[in-house]
Amino acid sequence: MAVRRLAETQPESFAFSPENHAWAEREIAKFPEGRQASAVIALLWRAQEQEGWITKPAIEQVAEMLSMPTIRVLEVATFYTMFHLEPVGTKAHVQVCGTTPCMLRGAGDIIDVCRRRIHAEPHHRSADEAFSWEEVECLGACVNAPMVQVFKDTYEDLTPESFEAVLDAFDRGETPTPGPQNGRHHSVPINGLTSLTEIDYSDGAAAPVTEPMSAPAPARSEPAPAEPSVAEAPRATEGPTQSDATAVAEAEPELLTAAPDEGADDLKRISGVGPKLEGLLNSMGIYTFAQVAAWTPENIAWVDDRLKFKGRIDRDDWLGQARKFAAEKSGR
Ligand code: FES
Repeated sequence: MAVRRLAETQPESFAFSPENHAWAEREIAKFPEGRQASAVIALLWRAQEQEGWITKPAIEQVAEMLSMPTIRVLEVATFYTMFHLEPVGTKAHVQVCGTTPCMLRGAGDIIDVCRRRIHAEPHHRSADEAFSWEEVECLGACVNAPMVQVFKDTYEDLTPESFEAVLDAFDRGETPTPGPQNGRHHSVPINGLTSLTEIDYSDGAAAPVTEPMSAPAPARSEPAPAEPSVAEAPRATEGPTQSDATAVAEAEPELLTAAPDEGADDLKRISGVGPKLEGLLNSMGIYTFAQVAAWTPENIAWVDDRLKFKGRIDRDDWLGQARKFAAEKSGR
């Protein structure tokens, strides 16, 4: 990775266009008070789109808008190679991945094309200032190596010939179709699928081409979500279904219709219970440590069945934890 410094020659000032300034204000407003710095990458990116590169005055302007020390914005701009610290080609700035997988798959040949067609050295513009190039670290498309990124898009599975065709298209003022340049779709195996062959991987959603691979499983046999949504929670007032009546009648734990007058216990203190799960338990009528501590194995099975991730109660020892918290609460 080359040392990334600001360009020696800088403009006097920077200002967002009225349209971009209004956009930036909306972007900043998306974050809670005190967290405006979260908009730093978005604002820097918009500044780059406006100017073509990141200038020192732009960094200072973004820092002021976000109430950040200038050095913090400078750190972001100089860390990410997506930010250009000097003027780049007007038609294309080519970032060639030179990390090991791409280099093993021919990135050196792609760099040779850059040297011949753009400039012998990186970070220099072509004679007509339409193109520039640089070598960067892994851009996350290793499975489609070698690849380059041009502004927002990536061009993958390149050969020197297909890369030259991409450059030709940019030179004509076109935006060539991003993605693999050898005809394969995304990163599906180049020699054809060996599994999941029922799926249509052509453009668009990966929709099954014939019948669904399997009919949706009944809700109770579906894999349990890590954090079930509160919307799924059976409410205490809804009661069991007719078919469940017998089993539930024998195993239903003590349920409350509302939190006790002294308030509900903080069930999130039980390891494994998060805010969503606490809401789910409350909606079932479970509000206190004492309720949980009193569960029998049949009660656990009843609750397990409704939480849709069997085994968690035993695995995380909810009862042991609940007994401890209930004892703490009663002063024992
Ligand atoms: S090594 Fe080139 S994209 Fe990862």
